[in-house]
Amino acid sequence: MMTELEALKSRHSVRQYKEDAVPEESIKILQDEIAKINKEQNLNFQLVVNDPNTFTNFLAHYGNFTGVRNYIAIIGKKDRDVDVGYYTEKLVLLIQSLGMNSCICASSFSKSKALVTVGKDERFYLGVCFGYGVKQGVDHKNKPVETLFEVESGEAPEWFKKGVEAALMAPTALNQQKFKITLKENGKCRAISKFGPCSKMDLGIVMYNFEVGAGKENVIWE
Ligand SMILES: Cc1cc2nc3c(=O)[nH]c(=O)nc-3n(C[C@H](O)[C@H](O)[C@H](O)COP(=O)(O)O)c2cc1C
Repeated sequence: MMTELEALKSRHSVRQYKEDAVPEESIKILQDEIAKINKEQNLNFQLVVNDPNTFTNFLAHYGNFTGVRNYIAIIGKKDRDVDVGYYTEKLVLLIQSLGMNSCICASSFSKSKALVTVGKDERFYLGVCFGYGVKQGVDHKNKPVETLFEVESGEAPEWFKKGVEAALMAPTALNQQKFKITLKENGKCRAISKFGPCSKMDLGIVMYNFEVGAGKENVIWE
């Protein structure tokens, strides 16, 4: 199994999938991680295998999704956007490290067709489709680094530079990259999201990647 950092570097959104079934062992690993996240974070993520009908509405067709049969429904109480993003990315990197591909989706699937249960006080945030991609995807474009990251004083330490490199590779909705990470004078990091669709979920995703690149032990969020 590849490391989490290797998974992060090789991950791209993939929208076309082969017919190959996902092995039982991989499903079990994902189920166990989802159960752990749900318990520790009080979320309600649900994994669905072998449902060909949820990513095939016209939007999915429009977005050119084919062969999707497996997905994780990202469900939880309201106002958990940043946590939801953070733990979604953790799962996306686990999927990649198991040799599979994925795509986080806010709109390219039918939430009403998904074989899941959403409580009255809950929100269906995202769907993460996964499986064996026809291709591995491509690098996305990045905004100028200086618009996304800032160091309040002095030179950026090596760990911060590695965090920047990993955060730049994070998936964001419409590749909008509406975030800013600042290394403060006191050594703590500040992460903020700007206005945009899903930008708070994006922020959680970016923070997860930043920690993987920088080393969790170096990052103290303010
Ligand atoms: C919160 C979120 C929602 C997304 N929703 C969709 C979607 O509805 N349809 C889609 O095709 N891609 C969706 N994406 C994938 C992004 O378009 C993709 O991550 C971005 O273009 C960067 O490309 P990359 O993931 O290959 O690095 C979403 C990504 C995120 C993080």
